[in-house]
Amino acid sequence: MNKIKVAVIGCGAIAQRRHIPEYEHNPNVELIAFCDPVIARAEKYAEKHGAKAYANYQELLQHEKVDAVSVCTPNALHAPVAIAAANAGAHVLVEKPMAATAEEGQAMIDAASRNGVYLMVGHNQRLMPPHVKAKEILESGKLGKVLTFRTTFGHPGPEGWSVDGRDSWFFRKEEAIMGAMGDLGVHKSDLIRYLLNDEVADVAAFVSTLHKEGTDVDDNATCVLRMKSGAIGTLVASWTYYKGGDNSTVLWCENGVMEIGAPSGDEVTVKFRNGNVDTYKVGAMATNEKQTDSGVVAAFVQSIVTSTPPSISGEEGLRSLKVILGAFESQATGRVIAL
Ligand SMILES: NC(=O)c1ccc[n+]([C@@H]2O[C@H](COP(=O)([O-])OP(=O)(O)OC[C@H]3O[C@@H](n4cnc5c(N)ncnc54)[C@H](O)[C@@H]3O)[C@@H](O)[C@H]2O)c1
Repeated sequence: MNKIKVAVIGCGAIAQRRHIPEYEHNPNVELIAFCDPVIARAEKYAEKHGAKAYANYQELLQHEKVDAVSVCTPNALHAPVAIAAANAGAHVLVEKPMAATAEEGQAMIDAASRNGVYLMVGHNQRLMPPHVKAKEILESGKLGKVLTFRTTFGHPGPEGWSVDGRDSWFFRKEEAIMGAMGDLGVHKSDLIRYLLNDEVADVAAFVSTLHKEGTDVDDNATCVLRMKSGAIGTLVASWTYYKGGDNSTVLWCENGVMEIGAPSGDEVTVKFRNGNVDTYKVGAMATNEKQTDSGVVAAFVQSIVTSTPPSISGEEGLRSLKVILGAFESQATGRVIAL
């Protein structure tokens, strides 16, 4: 089989730490082009792979015949780049949050469908081993229904992550659209929908900029969610967990409680009402410091190779985004938002 010709658009932190290495290790892939307006970032990988470097994604799509692209740009560019790539006939793996608005997200889905290409969103939380195990336990039925939950994602902020540090686009609203909610909150709206196999019916939220200076994007949010099943819970996103970073989820169910990623980070513990305790050590949850294979690129390539639509589809990404957009609307209006 011919190798899949891939271009990576945006060569910053997530491209360098996950997309590019995961494509490099994939025997079905040939990396043929890289794009970044900071051209040295693209050139570094182009040289390594005998590929082309571009400063402008439109030029890349005009000059290269690519089968697939990864969109690893600032959030505001996800929709325009993804739509241009789909129109050029390329399958698209776009980072989260998939778009700035629901309309943009829908336009991306429509562009992929019109062009007969796949659209996948980089919701890698679903693929982390503790979350895979948690899903399996929930589906076994032994815990019964989920009644209430909390899901949290907090770290010290993107200044320690982005290739541009404190000068990052993450802090500029025109490019980021949203702060901690787009960076971390959308991971957890996606995770809770996925784990509970349920949709968010209503959201109420406080979203605020409490501590990051010189920015008007949110650095903290606390949301209350009611699911269609009736389960209620909280979703927290924070860029000010300067100590005590947290990517944990706790689900209180009819027959006991499941703790995911708490307290050690990598375990799933199930405590039953009858006193039995099951602990699963299934592999690491990725953190900014501890990077593990996301599985996202492998799943994207597998979709293309086997002509199977990706399970983390544009439609899934859009539903998860709508929860976050609902939270912003709740903050702006002081009301509970029905989705
Ligand atoms: N799935 C995850 O866990 C995860 C983690 C981190 C970031 N992300 C997402 O990945 C995306 C990129 O974030 P990052 O952490 O790599 O940021 P970053 O700041 O480290 O890198 C962004 C890169 O995009 C480049 N860029 C800017 N404008 C561009 C354009 N017009 N065309 C091409 N490239 C352009 C910048 O020069 C920079 O090199 C964001 O949407 C972010 O939310 C996802």
